[in-house]
Amino acid sequence: MSGVHSRVVAVTGAGGGLGREYALLLAAGGAKVVVNDLGGARDGTGSGSGMADAVVAEIKAAGGEAVASYDSVSTAEGGAAVVATAIEAFGRIDGVVHNAGILRDTAFHKMTAEQWDAVVQVHLYGGFHVIRAAWPHFREQRHGRVVVATSNTGLYGNFGQANYGAAKLGLVGLINSLAIEGARYGILANAVAPIAATRMTEDIAPPEVLAKIPPAQVAPFVGYLLSDECTDSGIGLIVGFGKCTRVQLFESKGVVFPEVPSIAEVAERFAEITDMSGAEPGVNTVGG
Ligand code: NAI
Repeated sequence: MSGVHSRVVAVTGAGGGLGREYALLLAAGGAKVVVNDLGGARDGTGSGSGMADAVVAEIKAAGGEAVASYDSVSTAEGGAAVVATAIEAFGRIDGVVHNAGILRDTAFHKMTAEQWDAVVQVHLYGGFHVIRAAWPHFREQRHGRVVVATSNTGLYGNFGQANYGAAKLGLVGLINSLAIEGARYGILANAVAPIAATRMTEDIAPPEVLAKIPPAQVAPFVGYLLSDECTDSGIGLIVGFGKCTRVQLFESKGVVFPEVPSIAEVAERFAEITDMSGAEPGVNTVGG
């Protein structure tokens, strides 16, 4: 029996789009699912119980087990409440998929602190709050699975999404350290950058492109990372258009300077420093 059977997983932002697909697939595989969703609009305004309730009803109608949470992940109380919902309803928590997200796109020269904060709060602080609440349970039971939603914008940048990109790559930084801290405790932490037709992307690509990226395509990859079979941690995947790839940071061969160089000497060797031929996966040798 595959690996999410009998496990308890909380999926944030599971009232629609990708999160809904994750919740449906996990529940179909036998997992008990906390369907968390604030129920607001794409920009994070508003709230309501309707979205989470609809997905819970869908899971139950198909014979699965699920419970709703309407908490906002952007506060510590909200993150704790998501995990408390799992404990109250199912007695444990085995996995967290931090998928909740909002957009406040604008060119950087027009970006306000409010637009910055709102986005970082849901994506990055949201990840901290929910995973932090689940972490003691994971450690105690020596089993835990974390999957965060990152994005190509975080990895590669995009016009008008500095707030979103910063938060999304922040989540990769988070799982990199969680993979190290969780290793002794059977806790795996991984990231998935999806590419899918949802309300978040409905106006950025033509219908014929959107037709090729149904969100259901992404769900099995998230499901695998949550499974008992999975042993990999600190991995970043990109999933879309029927393809799944791994993304990783590489370091160039670089240049060794026996003496502290002058600025002019740096300029002279800069093409060599940035040449990625023969690059290898980077490692954190001394911390910091
Ligand atoms: P979506 O807008 O359908 O899903 C996001 C969900 O999060 C919504 O249902 C929303 O109500 C919920 N949410 C927002 N703020 C919340 C809060 N404070 N607390 C709890 N729930 C909250 O969009 P989609 O596309 O399904 O996005 C899911 C995740 O995937 C997001 O993190 C997004 O950034 C990420 N992503 C999506 C891509 C795509 O191609 N659709 C590309 C890259 C990343």
